[in-house]
Amino acid sequence: MFESLPLLPNDPILGLSIAYAKDTNPNKVDLGVGVYKNDAGQTPIMRAVAEAEKQRIVRDTTKAYTPPAGVPGANEVATRLVFGAGHPAVEAGRVRTVQAPGGCGALRVAAELIQRAKPGANLWVSTPTWANHIPLLGSAGLKLREYPYYDYATHSIDFTAMLNTFKEIPRGDLVLLHACCHNPSGADLTPAQWDQVADVLEARGIIPFVDMAYQGFGEGLEEDAYGLRMLSARLPEVIIATSFSKNFGLYRERAAALSLVFANPQQADAGFSQVLNVARAIYSMPPAHGSTIVDIILHSDELTQLWHSELTQMRERIAGLRVQLVDNLSRLQQARDFSFIARERGMFSFLGLTVEQVHKLKNDYSIYMTDTSRISVAGLTVEKMDYVSKAIVSVL
Ligand code: LMR
Repeated sequence: MFESLPLLPNDPILGLSIAYAKDTNPNKVDLGVGVYKNDAGQTPIMRAVAEAEKQRIVRDTTKAYTPPAGVPGANEVATRLVFGAGHPAVEAGRVRTVQAPGGCGALRVAAELIQRAKPGANLWVSTPTWANHIPLLGSAGLKLREYPYYDYATHSIDFTAMLNTFKEIPRGDLVLLHACCHNPSGADLTPAQWDQVADVLEARGIIPFVDMAYQGFGEGLEEDAYGLRMLSARLPEVIIATSFSKNFGLYRERAAALSLVFANPQQADAGFSQVLNVARAIYSMPPAHGSTIVDIILHSDELTQLWHSELTQMRERIAGLRVQLVDNLSRLQQARDFSFIARERGMFSFLGLTVEQVHKLKNDYSIYMTDTSRISVAGLTVEKMDYVSKAIVSVL
């Protein structure tokens, strides 16, 4: 039967890491996958994580299954991290959090739950959105529709077009919003724009589904959660997928949480039972290691402080690289304005190059980025900054 399966091309994002690893050019630069790197071009284990791992070995005495929702302490701290202390929806008993195998796992479980509650529901995603949102959420049976978001000409959000589309979306449809550090554009809503979005969603009975994969990489842990916290305080139902891959550097451990805000505690209990049932039908229960690390760190004042300072360093390093890249590019040429890169946040920005220019960067300079010219800014280093800037200018 397998003879019917054709060979597929590599994943447009993950495939870049494979090609990069094979490249023997000593000057190669990986601006592909959204993985944080330090100035040595490495993705180190965070010190808070390494310490929590030591504590975990002492603390854990069994490898027996965790409960279906995952490590209990981790759900408590994840809820606090996502919603902040004393959030009205949490206080009212309207929130349920479960762990999930990575941000993808959280998104997929949410999609399966939506599919149970409203088969074939319309889910509106930004143009553009993270490439993997489409197969990940669409193959659960949801119908994906698009709303305008990033204007490539002005390198900013076309907020008027976005809001006008929201005003036309049928009641009961869902919209997928990026909490912060929009992937792939790096262009985020301001708090005032979030408020306007909430007004429209509330008036029209549209349900927000928020993907928060980069909490702490934009403006800060609290600031980055502004939109989803405000929506959860105002609207009866909100779906939030939170990944710990980036902000705890736990990529391969697949640590994430799915938080659901329900209209009332009774619906929350029913919804929670359904989520566990969805997970049981796919993977039974989530992996424990990464979530245990999050649990240990966020239950320790000392480790939380260390983690905050490491996360702040990562955020500031990326923001600094953005400024340096803009300075370099404007020094080397004046025909094109790249200042938007310094205004954008998180791992990504579009350079605004054609596919041919992207391929030339790869073939002639061993500089890797997606065909859309999305760069993962964290892949730059001070040492490679000049090399990359000159290469970009040479293909313009
Ligand atoms: C990215 O967009 O590069 C990251 O979210 C990693 C991935 O899985 O695509």
